Formats: sequence, C-alpha cells, structure tokens
Amino acid sequence: MPGFERHVFICTNERAAEHPRGCCSSKQAAAVRAAFKAALKERGLSRVIRPNGAGCLDQCEHGVCAVVYPEGTWYGFLTPEDVPEIVREHLVGGRPVARLQLPEGCVNTARCAHKRLLRQNAKAPE
Ligand code: FES
Repeated sequence: MPGFERHVFICTNERAAEHPRGCCSSKQAAAVRAAFKAALKERGLSRVIRPNGAGCLDQCEHGVCAVVYPEGTWYGFLTPEDVPEIVREHLVGGRPVARLQLPEGCVNTARCAHKRLLRQNAKAPE
C-alpha cells in the first residue's frame, strides 16, 4: 500500500479547565477531527490523506487549529462546519481556504496579537 500523500494534524490536546492557555479539546476539536475523517471517507480519500489527532501544536490562542503537511498550511478557529470547505477547496482542489488560514504573523511568533491577549487575560485579576 502506498504511503499517505498528506497529513492533517488536528490538535485534540486536553488540559484542565482552569489552565490559562485553555485547550483545543474544550472547543470541539474531536468534532473537527471527526468531520475531517467523515469528509475524506465520503470522497474516498481515507487512504491518501490522513487526519491525525495531535497533541498541542502551540497555537492554543487560535481556537481549534490544524496544519496540513507537506505544504505546512495552518488553519485556526475551526469548527466542524468549516471542514467540508477545506477538504473540497484545499485537499481536493489545491486551493487553501484563505479565510480560515492563520496569518503568517500569528504562527510561532511572540508578536501574535492573539498570544499577547491570552497572556494578558491570564494575568488579569479576577
Ligand atoms: S491545546 Fe491545541 S494548540 Fe495548544
């Protein structure tokens, strides 16, 4: 059997409710992963593109996030309803869904406004 052509890593990390960084698990991550599995199966792509549950992708401030490899396209603030569009447009059509992509300035950088906001909220007195 040939290897997978692509992987979609979906963060399904779980943390305690009071953790300041939150977690994707509390934001429908399992449903997002299930939606990828269902949409890929429906199109007969289960043996070509693999939706993997992943630990923390260090994008906790960006809602449920996922990264598509080998191209390294990052998506954030995902809901299960977003998944068919990603599968149709990006994984089948080759056109990443711009409205769901994380901006360059948000991925793996301390300058990200979402990251600053999360840090400020974690420090804010109750
Ligand atoms: S918990 Fe999902 S990116 Fe960190």
